Amino acid sequence: MIDRQTVDRILDAANIVDVVSDFVTLRRAGANLKGLCPFHDDRTPSFMVSPSKNICKCFACGKGGTPVHFIMEHEQLTYPEALRYLAKKYHIEIKEREQTDEEKAEQSERESLFAVNEWANEWFQKQMNETVDGRAVGLAYFRQRGFRDDLIKKFQLGFCPDKYDAQWQAAKAEGYNEDYLLKTGLCIRHDNGKTYDRFRNRVIFPIHTISGKVVGFGGRVLDSRTKGVQVKYQNSPESIIYSKKRELYGLFFAKQAIVKQDLCYLVEGYTDVMAMHQQGVENVVASSGTALTHEQIRAIHRFTENIVVIYDGDAAGIKASQRGIDMLLAEGMSVKLLLLPDGDDPDSFARKHSATEYQQYLSDHQVDFIQFKTNLLLEEAHNDPIKLSRLTGNIVQSLAVIPDEITRTFYIKETSQMLSVEERIITSAVAKVRRQLKEEKQKEREREANRAQNLAQGTAQQTDSHEPAGLPAEPLDDPSLLPPDIAGLPPAEQLPPNAGEAPLGGATTGGLRNKEQRKNEHVLQTEQLLVQMIVRYGEQTMCTVKDADGEEQPLSVAEYVQLMLEEDDIVFQSPLHQRILQEAMEHLFEEGFRCDRYFENHPDLAIAELSTELAHDKETLSKRYQKEATTKSDEERLDELLPHLMADYKLAIVEQELQQVVLEMKDAAVLADKERSTELMRRFQEIKKIQSALGRQRGDRVLM
Ligand code: CTP
Ligand code: MN
Repeated sequence: MIDRQTVDRILDAANIVDVVSDFVTLRRAGANLKGLCPFHDDRTPSFMVSPSKNICKCFACGKGGTPVHFIMEHEQLTYPEALRYLAKKYHIEIKEREQTDEEKAEQSERESLFAVNEWANEWFQKQMNETVDGRAVGLAYFRQRGFRDDLIKKFQLGFCPDKYDAQWQAAKAEGYNEDYLLKTGLCIRHDNGKTYDRFRNRVIFPIHTISGKVVGFGGRVLDSRTKGVQVKYQNSPESIIYSKKRELYGLFFAKQAIVKQDLCYLVEGYTDVMAMHQQGVENVVASSGTALTHEQIRAIHRFTENIVVIYDGDAAGIKASQRGIDMLLAEGMSVKLLLLPDGDDPDSFARKHSATEYQQYLSDHQVDFIQFKTNLLLEEAHNDPIKLSRLTGNIVQSLAVIPDEITRTFYIKETSQMLSVEERIITSAVAKVRRQLKEEKQKEREREANRAQNLAQGTAQQTDSHEPAGLPAEPLDDPSLLPPDIAGLPPAEQLPPNAGEAPLGGATTGGLRNKEQRKNEHVLQTEQLLVQMIVRYGEQTMCTVKDADGEEQPLSVAEYVQLMLEEDDIVFQSPLHQRILQEAMEHLFEEGFRCDRYFENHPDLAIAELSTELAHDKETLSKRYQKEATTKSDEERLDELLPHLMADYKLAIVEQELQQVVLEMKDAAVLADKERSTELMRRFQEIKKIQSALGRQRGDRVLM
């Protein structure tokens, strides 16, 4: 547990621009900064960061908030985890309060898995650098492959000894939970109950998240002859902290260089990344031998639009990666490709060339995907017209997924020149493929809608298991690509089951109900203004009151509101509002407590979102209550403004009640319940009196 003061220090230190910049490239936009939203597939910058308000928000998907919320969402951390993250970033020491057993048990599993991995990462490095075997075998392996010691250290490479369960034993001796050792996949349990180390006798490459936490490991056999029975690389299994399709090896070490160069190289393997770093090229990540995923592309796209995919000259691999290229194009990335000489990968190529030669080669040999495909396929086609037309078809498929029209047109022009095919022919072929993609997408939506409907109706029908064509679906999510009759409609599954039918409650009471609802709304709106004052100024003194001994005592905004509500036995009608008032009262007397900081950073997102909105919108009470311009701020006039607002709030409640009484009186009259009618009449007059009193208090002239 972190104590309140430390939490406040962390929240005060956390700067939204700093925090977001670790993950998103921001550019100036007036008083704010903006960038590609990290929370959705963003192609145009929708993510705004306000330095003055210290918050961020995506105008497309709505995600954002204070630094702590950004970290919670982005790193998928709990509130305390996010605070710890920020504390580390700002070098704020956390003095842990001794945890109770209950709290210990509650500590999240994720946190525990990360802790185990962090320990293991240190352990692997120690084994390699500080044991005789480790140095003779592990370190020697890396050095013999030509990796410099500074790179070995930077990438935190390690070694797992050739013993059955050395790590398992070491971890248990240090008190790590067996369960977590198995769940991270560091250790594996046999059916016979024996447990052994997954990575034994392998050199270790830790895999880092974008922010540098270790989510898993890759372990390579030491044998340079990898043809044998052993798998060359053992990788950590998927776990609640490691998803292979989300991580890109090396991104943590590359992100700054990617931003600086506005370019990212994509290679296949761990050693390729390292070799390129060693040659002074640091803007490089690896897909780790698997097909590129949307998540990985998005991770790169946040830092740059420009990607160069490096291939070792193996034709099979190039063909297999076509889908990856189309996905990159569909994400709106500008894609270049680079072919290394036959038989070389970036690692082996690096060893044959100096850093300067290497970098020169990279800049001289990258070509855009059209040139690349054309060159590659032209060689194969040998002027064979059938093969040539197949080649054109292949390129047309790629062109069709490019979302941006200008880029697409540019590439169509290039293709037409390279293949000597008239531009309009390619244009119309591309248009045709785009139409097909659109239809495919539409059909898919219909299938989705049907499935949703079947589910809603409980008819567990066998649904069409046919997967849509293997083309990237992304660009067609763009509603402008859909026919107008579909684009405007919400997906069927978002509609309530009875959408289109008469509203509940029937037509007769409908009108009254609406009126009542409007009244309620008025109460809630006024209530929210009070809450806004609490969020903004809750702890500030608004006036003084005499205590029992006749001494003047300061009264804070929150106390005032609480007091005035108690006076009339009122509780806020919205539970959220009530919670804010309650919590303000609970913390008011803590040293240094500030309502704005506390509520905007609240662990409960509903409270945090509302508070952030209320703290920063342009509404002021001065504007509301003062017709002519005033130079004074709300803060300076709390003692005048709050009583005014409080009177308005009570009036709103009274009006609401009056409305209800009138409603019921009509009913009672219909039912000819004399007793109830009289009672209601009495109540009606009472309320009228309160109303006029409140009106007077508010300075209105009320005619009775
Ligand atoms: N890979 C894997 N499991 C395997 C083989 C490969 O996870 N059995 C992944 C690794 O991330 C590896 C990448 O695919 O880095 C590329 O594979 P490969 O080119 O075979 O390995 P290299 O990175 O070149 O490794 P080395 O140079 O040590 O042979
Ligand atoms: Mn290699």
